[in-house]
Amino acid sequence: MKKRLEKLRQTLKNNSIDAVFIKSPANRRYLSGFTGTAGALFISQTKACLITDFRYIQQAQKQCREFEIIEQTASIFASLGKLVKETNAHLLGFEKEYLTYADYELLEKNTEAELRAVEGLVEEIRLFKDEEELSLLKEAASIADKAFDHITKFIKPGLKEIEVSNELEFFMRKQGAVSSSFDIIVASGWRSALPHGVASNKAIESGELVTLDFGAYYKGYCSDITRTVAVGEPSGELKKIYQTVYEAQLKAVAEIKPGMSGVEADAIAREYIKKQGYGNYFGHGLGHGLGMEVHEGPRLSPKGNRKLEPGMVVTVEPGVYVPETGGTRIEDDIVITKQGNEKLTHSPKEIMIVGE
Ligand code: GLY
Ligand code: MN
Repeated sequence: MKKRLEKLRQTLKNNSIDAVFIKSPANRRYLSGFTGTAGALFISQTKACLITDFRYIQQAQKQCREFEIIEQTASIFASLGKLVKETNAHLLGFEKEYLTYADYELLEKNTEAELRAVEGLVEEIRLFKDEEELSLLKEAASIADKAFDHITKFIKPGLKEIEVSNELEFFMRKQGAVSSSFDIIVASGWRSALPHGVASNKAIESGELVTLDFGAYYKGYCSDITRTVAVGEPSGELKKIYQTVYEAQLKAVAEIKPGMSGVEADAIAREYIKKQGYGNYFGHGLGHGLGMEVHEGPRLSPKGNRKLEPGMVVTVEPGVYVPETGGTRIEDDIVITKQGNEKLTHSPKEIMIVGE
């Protein structure tokens, strides 16, 4: 935590910001270790405070050793106002993506500092995972791998998608996950052509592809894996879709390395899928950063200009979705290394026929 604070203070210095107000739950936890659901940070060159309410004081004192814990008075903003005065902060940064308009009004009313909307100050630091974060991400990925292995033996024709999703979630919780890292996608048959087909009451039938996209939320970190399985023998067209995505995904994982931009990484899979005639059916980016949030920077997509660097963790998830016919997505989590990348998820990817 100390290193993280040092990095943020350097960023504040570089931007001539006297202090910053942090409200985003992920940024708050990343900097302070606080897991409560209410509270905000005030960080200047000399002070690091967590303002929270009565419910969380004892917890915060245990979790946030580097921080002074302040019990809010009338409101977080009133307490913040006092800190701004005490530290003589003239320029106060706030996270423009996390403050509501109502928050902003309260900020204006309660502080005398000049306000500066800032973007990505902490997120930039979070792009580079430290050793502790990598070990938590590996554990989150390992829980997802175990869950995939379990679910391949559980799926049978006649089961509803929602039953499969419930089983996945319960299994991951039994392995130590706090929860699923997002609403689980179980998309079978025609629904596998929905890139985000959250599990429904549809029953799974023989001959269908089933896309399973899920992840574990473990000690503040997320995994995100997708596998598509066949329940019984799929048609030739479905097999071709699967093979195209499979080859594209293998190729991307094999070639992604530092120095490459998100655009270039995305193009590896996109060009391959285009060549196989499915260019119009891959309508999302190749991947996204992964960490405390399931979607964070950097992006691997036609808009991802950022260069990949060692320590970044991203997903690689090409997909092909043909309306009415079906679709496939295959997704791994990888960490960029000095030489290339290393996979965090290890579940098999060759087409697997289950439920027989
Ligand atoms: N796994 C869900 C997503 O990446 O959007
Ligand atoms: Mn994903």
